[in-house]
This record gives sequence, C-alpha cells and structure tokens, in this order.
Amino acid sequence: MARVGIFGAGWVGLVTGACFADLGHEVVIRDVVPEKIERLRAGEVPFHEPDVPELLERNRDRLIFTLDVDDIADCEFLFVCVDTPPTYSGDADLSRVWTVVDELPELDGRPILVMKSTVPVGTGDKIRHGLDLRGLSHVGYASNPEFLAEGNAVRDFMHPDRVVIGAFDDADADAVAALYAGLDARVVSCDVNSAEMIKLAANAFLMTRISFINEIANVCEVTGADVVKVAEGVGLDHRLGPHFLRAGIGYGGSCFPKDSLALKQLASNSGYHFQLLSAVIEVNELQKRRVIGKLTKHLGPLRGKKVALLGLAFKPNTDDMREAPSIVLASRLLAEGAVVRAWDPVVADPGNLPRGVEVVDSVLDAVDGADAAVIVTEWADLRDLAREEVRDAMANPLIIDGRNLLDPVAVRAEGFVYEGIGRRTVATDVLPETHEREPEPELH
Ligand SMILES: NC(=O)c1ccc[n+]([C@@H]2O[C@H](COP(=O)([O-])OP(=O)(O)OC[C@H]3O[C@@H](n4cnc5c(N)ncnc54)[C@H](O)[C@@H]3O)[C@@H](O)[C@H]2O)c1
Repeated sequence: MARVGIFGAGWVGLVTGACFADLGHEVVIRDVVPEKIERLRAGEVPFHEPDVPELLERNRDRLIFTLDVDDIADCEFLFVCVDTPPTYSGDADLSRVWTVVDELPELDGRPILVMKSTVPVGTGDKIRHGLDLRGLSHVGYASNPEFLAEGNAVRDFMHPDRVVIGAFDDADADAVAALYAGLDARVVSCDVNSAEMIKLAANAFLMTRISFINEIANVCEVTGADVVKVAEGVGLDHRLGPHFLRAGIGYGGSCFPKDSLALKQLASNSGYHFQLLSAVIEVNELQKRRVIGKLTKHLGPLRGKKVALLGLAFKPNTDDMREAPSIVLASRLLAEGAVVRAWDPVVADPGNLPRGVEVVDSVLDAVDGADAAVIVTEWADLRDLAREEVRDAMANPLIIDGRNLLDPVAVRAEGFVYEGIGRRTVATDVLPETHEREPEPELH
C-alpha cells in the first residue's frame, strides 16, 4: 500500500483521498483553507456529495487532513487536485497549480507528481521543466485526469470507465496504475499531452451531445415532435447510445463551462478556430434563456409577475452552484422585472445568486402566489410537483419544466398548464380566463 499526498480538499481531492484510503492507501490531504481542514478533522464534509461522509468515517485511521505542506514530504505520490478556474480571457487559470509546484518541500526518493486537475494541453511539459529548474528532476510526473461527475463521484471513482495515465517515464505510469489495482479499471496509457487532451475532448464531446439534443428540442417545438421520444429512438442506436441526450435548459457546473472555454481558447491561442465548440457554447448560452420566452408566451410581460425557481444547484445530488443555469435565469427574470422566489433542497449558500432573489425553505413557500413554477434542477423531490396543494397555492397553474422531469399528460390531468423543453404542446395549454394578462406593449 502506498502513501498518497493530495493537494486540494475540494470535490476531486476529497473524493480521490477518501477512495484511495478505502482501497487501503495511507492518505494525507492538504488544503490552504483553515476552516475546511478544521471541519474535515471534526468529521464534517464541507459540501454535499453522496457517500463521501461514510467513506471518510470508515477510513478515518488512514486519512490525515493538514494545512502544512511538509506533512506530504514522505508521500510517494503527490496528487494535484486544486481548482483551475477560467481567467478573464477564458484560458484556464493555473496559478494554484504553480503554487503547488513552488511549495513542494524537500523530497527524497522518486515521488511522482500526479496531475488530476483539468489543465490545458502542454501543461505537463511546462511543469516538467519547472520541476527540473527547481532541482526536482528526481520527481516523476504523470497526468491522470479525473472524470468523476458530482453527485455520483464516489461511484464514478470506484467504477471508472477507464483510468487515463500519461507519463514521461513508463515506470512512473506503472506506479500510478498500481494505485488503482484494487479497481476493475481499464488503463489507457499514453503520452502526457494526449492524456491532457483526452480529458478536454471527453468533456467537449459530452457538451456537444447536450447542445445537439437541445437544438433538436428547439426544432421539435416548431415542428410538433416530442424530443423525449426522439432522444429515446436516437439513443437506442448502438452507434450513438442514450447518454447526454436529455434536452433541458443547458449545462452548467464547475467543469463544462470552464473546460469548453479553456479548450476553445487553447485552440485559438494555437491558431485554430474550433467552430463546432464555439457553436456548442453559444447554443448553451441561448438555451438557458429560453424559459423567459416560454413564460412570456403565457404571462405576457413579466414585470411584477411572481416566478418560483425550483432547484438552484447545477444538477441534482450536489450543492454546487458554480455556473448553474439558475443564476442566469434568475438574473434574466429580475431584469424583466419579475419577482423571483427560489427553493433548493441542499444548496445552503446561494451566494452567487443575484441580489433580489428570495430563497425559501420549501416548495410550497416558493410557489405560494406564483404566476409560474419553473423546474430548474431535476431534483427527485419535484417529481410530485403537480399536486393539488401546489395548484391551489399558485396564482396561475403554470409549470415550465426546464428538465423534462414530469409526465405532461399526468401534469395536465391535475389541472396545470405544462411546458417542457422540446415537448408537444396541446390545445389546453392555455391559462384559465381568470388570468389577468397585461396588454402587450405597442410596437413602434
Ligand atoms: N468537480 C468536478 O466534478 C471535477 C471533475 C473532474 C475534474 N475536475 C477538475 O479537478 C480540479 C479540482 O476541481 P474541484 O471541483 O475539486 O475544485 P474545488 O474548488 O472544489 O477544490 C479545490 C481545492 O483546492 C484547494 N487549494 C487551492 N490551492 C491549494 C494549494 N496550494 N494547496 C492545497 N490546496 C489548495 C482549494 O482551497 C479547494 O479546497 C479542477 O481542475 C477541475 O476542473 C473537477
């Protein structure tokens, strides 16, 4: 069993550390935020991710949490799991990665620095050079990108589709692969640049599928097809598969938006215009805003209208709000003059929501007096949204299902007007007469 050091106690670092500990390795996790380390030492997990609390508890004896970089000095593997957010130019900000390289303590033997953070192609070459300049030529380097998805992170780590390892030295690659020996994982060994590109390309391809099905959904709406059936029929083709063909109001999160921008920028900086990826990004931006058009269609101008946003996290089973579509939607609604109330079952800190959004504790509080309820995140708690007490609480029984979570037939049977994304509308999808519509503004 190995001694594994981890830089960063975020989603990737903590899950990686907890899972390696569960595989029997001794793990030291280092972060720079004192509060995070204190909470972890006290047995608390600083974010919502299924199975992580149990894993940390079970492996408490094999896990050390520290602020002191010297505590990782005797580790054989040094995993870099720090954040790589976008800079103003769209490039990945590698400052935290370089801080880790600069902070490395005196190291003996042949420890291996393993990059799990998502970085641009060419980063490994630069770090190798940086290590050599620092007199750390004896430190190996490997790229081992992470593919876990928040909400399923532990399962993804323990049952990976593949483990990608790019190294300058075959022995380093073998040593990193041995860490995963306890898993039933297919290892893809390659050069460092290719490993870095595999991560970026995989994310870009997933985003492409999302934007593709969202565009198909938009065409379904104007041609009278139903995207849910279309996706089912398309996804059963074994050459295509069913994944990431769920139409909705667009992707968000800590990875897709920044990684697509970083890849687009990486290509541009190298003199190549990545047209397809540019379109994927633009389609996603427009998709987040489509709810506004749907609301206006039913309610007229949104000034003074009360809208309930149901779900704030960028996807279910996480409290991560980074680049969540809810933020754009809330901003657009406020700009239209709507009154916005929001609910989410786990987001404790909706800090990056625009000011003016009232966050409430229950679905019923959110929909009370609302002119419309918008499903923003497909939380399981919302599956029974179309019920009598919700309908009675709302000023208008209008549900905009931004994630196609509900069955339109069942929702309409409960007396609601339903609009999904790319779903067929029916003649009864109009609000009752009692609904007071403001006159459309005159066109000049
Ligand atoms: N979150 C995901 O779903 C996911 C999936 C695959 C890959 N990634 C990639 O993994 C990387 C980490 O993502 P994340 O979501 O875990 O980020 P995060 O922001 O949740 O965590 C990063 C952590 O690193 C810490 N940190 C910063 N500088 C440090 C230093 N010098 N030493 C030690 N710790 C330091 C931060 O305090 C923070 O706790 C990113 O590059 C991301 O793109 C993320």
